[in-house]
Amino acid sequence: MKTFIRSAGLVFFALFAGILQGNENAFEGWTHLELGAANYGQRKHNREWSLKKSSHLTDMDFYIAQLDYDNWGQYGVLYWTLDELVERYGEKGVFHVNDCREQLSNYTARMLKKYAAKKGYSEVIIEPITADFFQIDPVQTLIKFGRERYDSVHLKNPEPSLYRKTAPAERAKTRRLFQKLADLSYDGFFLFYYRFDSYTPKAEIEEYINKGIFYQETDEWEPVPYVSTNGHVTSQSLGKVVFIQSTPQDSDADQE
Ligand SMILES: C[S@@+](CC[C@H](N)C(=O)[O-])C[C@H]1O[C@@H](n2cnc3c(N)ncnc32)[C@H](O)[C@@H]1O
Repeated sequence: MKTFIRSAGLVFFALFAGILQGNENAFEGWTHLELGAANYGQRKHNREWSLKKSSHLTDMDFYIAQLDYDNWGQYGVLYWTLDELVERYGEKGVFHVNDCREQLSNYTARMLKKYAAKKGYSEVIIEPITADFFQIDPVQTLIKFGRERYDSVHLKNPEPSLYRKTAPAERAKTRRLFQKLADLSYDGFFLFYYRFDSYTPKAEIEEYINKGIFYQETDEWEPVPYVSTNGHVTSQSLGKVVFIQSTPQDSDADQE
């Protein structure tokens, strides 16, 4: 039910966000921002890995790793995200591909455009956004679409260094950074991560994630595998998705 309400809400925002912001010329489709999407760009990815069926690997792991497109595997998760957005919210949209290095974000946006052309998604505008994702200003990146925030924001498989320091004050700092990412969207953002300790500190899992403090459990999006540069696949079955809410808006201030 919650899922339905948020999906319906996203379509509502896609249609009426411009009007709410006093801009009747605003873009009428959905707007999505994929953070840290490049998976290290054009760096040589090993296409020779062997995927042996084990109880560990899910069907999605196989689907992603065997995708028969340019740069299959490396961008399977990105292609799947685009397919899902079109399926859920319609054919008209803006898909912003973020990474911190220009070469990487440009290359990745080119790969996604190629995929979109193959799929016939002619109404999806795909653009690179080169920036440290903690520094993105959605008012600037969306200015030509007459929007001030994204309808949806995802961060998938961030580098483990996000949680390198596990002291409470350092974890609180990471949460403040996550809040910045949530505030890029009207609603909040989806964080796709791994459950193991080496990735997310045990204390963060026990004190916050398991208790639903700051991080909300969600089944709105399913976990994704990660295909690393050496071809290793980290199974979808080890993944988890949580939703982090944006800071509530002052509706009075919005209307002024
Ligand atoms: C582990 S890869 C994950 C790629 C992709 N999301 C996936 O699931 O396949 C992490 C990516 O995030 C990018 N990245 C790391 N820190 C970033 C930052 N602060 N701002 C933007 N991109 C960043 C890296 O350049 C790399 O391409």
